[in-house]
Amino acid sequence: MNETKESHPFLEGLSSHRGAPPTAIVIFGASGDLTARKLMPALYNLGVDNLLPADFSFIGYGRREMTNDEFRHSMKEAVEKFSRRPLDEKLWENLSKGIRFQVGGYDDAESFARLGETIESLEEQVGGEIQTLFYISTPPSAFASILNNLGMSGLAKRNIGSRRSSKVVIEKPFGRNLESARKLNKVIASHFDESQVFRIDHYLGKETVQSLLVQRFANSIFEPIWNRRYVECIQITVSESIGVGSRAGYYDQSGALRDMIQNHVMQLLALTAMEPPVSLDPESIRDEKVKVLKAIQPLRVDGEESEVVRGRYVEGLVEGEKAVGYLEEESVPPASTTETFVALRLSINNWRWKGVPFYLRSGKRMARRASEIAIQFKLPPGILFSEKEKFDVGPNVMVLRIQPDEGLTLTLNSKVPGLETRTQPVKMNFGYATTFGSNTPEAYERLILDAMVGDGTLFIRGDETEASWKLFTPLLDYWAEDSNHPKSYLAGSWGPVEADALLHRENHEWRVAGSG
Ligand SMILES: NC(=O)c1ccc[n+]([C@@H]2O[C@H](COP(=O)([O-])OP(=O)(O)OC[C@H]3O[C@@H](n4cnc5c(N)ncnc54)[C@H](OP(=O)(O)O)[C@@H]3O)[C@@H](O)[C@H]2O)c1
Repeated sequence: MNETKESHPFLEGLSSHRGAPPTAIVIFGASGDLTARKLMPALYNLGVDNLLPADFSFIGYGRREMTNDEFRHSMKEAVEKFSRRPLDEKLWENLSKGIRFQVGGYDDAESFARLGETIESLEEQVGGEIQTLFYISTPPSAFASILNNLGMSGLAKRNIGSRRSSKVVIEKPFGRNLESARKLNKVIASHFDESQVFRIDHYLGKETVQSLLVQRFANSIFEPIWNRRYVECIQITVSESIGVGSRAGYYDQSGALRDMIQNHVMQLLALTAMEPPVSLDPESIRDEKVKVLKAIQPLRVDGEESEVVRGRYVEGLVEGEKAVGYLEEESVPPASTTETFVALRLSINNWRWKGVPFYLRSGKRMARRASEIAIQFKLPPGILFSEKEKFDVGPNVMVLRIQPDEGLTLTLNSKVPGLETRTQPVKMNFGYATTFGSNTPEAYERLILDAMVGDGTLFIRGDETEASWKLFTPLLDYWAEDSNHPKSYLAGSWGPVEADALLHRENHEWRVAGSG
């Protein structure tokens, strides 16, 4: 079959420039929140950009009875509500012809056999083999049975060995600790080859995260100073101003460490700290990420030297509005010890980073929503410009702003204009929106497209998930036994004072995240 064919009636005018083969995406759990808010809008926007493969179709799968029309209607509403670009009726008409719903269970062989028949009938319609991309978007309790049924039904091995071999995308969270992540990896490995597997961390789909590789390795001025000789410390912040909202049921079982640090924040750390890969192919990049994750020293979890602070918000003001404390949120059990904030100090025991503290923090109900990586460089020797009353000299800091206001800021010391020599830190700013315009693709657009073309660079490999869980599982075990409650912080603040004290030990201060 011609892979660049553009004239299939489902998607007239839509075809992929990145050469994905004809594809059917099957979303398990398609009646859920993620499909409506992210996946369907991402597929629609790929359609707008002419990036969907020819003969593209989308099978929503779930237990709830729904007709094709009802499902299409709900998907249309999702696009109207959540797409970054408005719905175009003509394009929707084309796209929606390829959308259908299949009722089925997640753990019964018969439903999967029926799914196989549906895929075969699609192949008959298009007159050739199609790739199936299975997207598991259910709660994690259903992951293993879906994977097993894909294996046992033979769907996992469709077109194996060719570009059109089946692929599977697995949503987060990937396990709850090292043991469960290993178990899930074993289930996957018993049915799929690793090249067919795409573990999602949507942070990797964000523009600025991808541009970190370009910043580091397409410029020659940063790499020589990106090491222990010049870097004083590195701070990674992922803060949210929202609370747990209606997701308390999920969140109380998870907490900030599992929800944010173990996956998103560790990915940011790995990309910041890894060695230059030998090439840009997915395995070379992921090899380097695993190496650096393995070089992280075990955390000190208790006593005076503890490198961890866990916190929980109490009532306060967030952006001028009163916010209740975590324990007062709906559906949070009164005896909960779940953390809504974590701060950590990590040491990487390798040639490049030995002795440089990596400070990580993430929390809910913090002063501001901000995700950023700040590289703080060492101060120059205090010989010139050292009189504090005359010279305001601060460290050079390079900040990669991931959200909001994606960009990069470099803080330098400058002379204040005038007849006297006085100094002041100033900022050089590069903003994505200013330079490139603001309508950048959503993370899920990039990730779904990459999975369709079989590019795993921005997905997590099995050994990466295990390296990260290996680091945090002893801490989770310790907390599970610890009857102390997390340290309190006011909603709308930057976390408990203990998180500040963690940095003060080494004369460091948290930056005000989101301040450019
Ligand atoms: N929502 C987000 O913003 C978000 C963000 C990042 C990651 N994720 C991850 O993406 C996956 C899907 O998230 P979601 O928010 O769409 O989930 P959801 O709305 O809770 O569930 C999606 C669908 O899964 C099916 N399902 C299967 N087993 C279920 C069970 N035991 N309980 C409830 N529903 C079950 C249900 O469809 P049927 O009843 O029709 O079978 C449900 O509509 C999860 O793994 C989540 O952690 C979500």
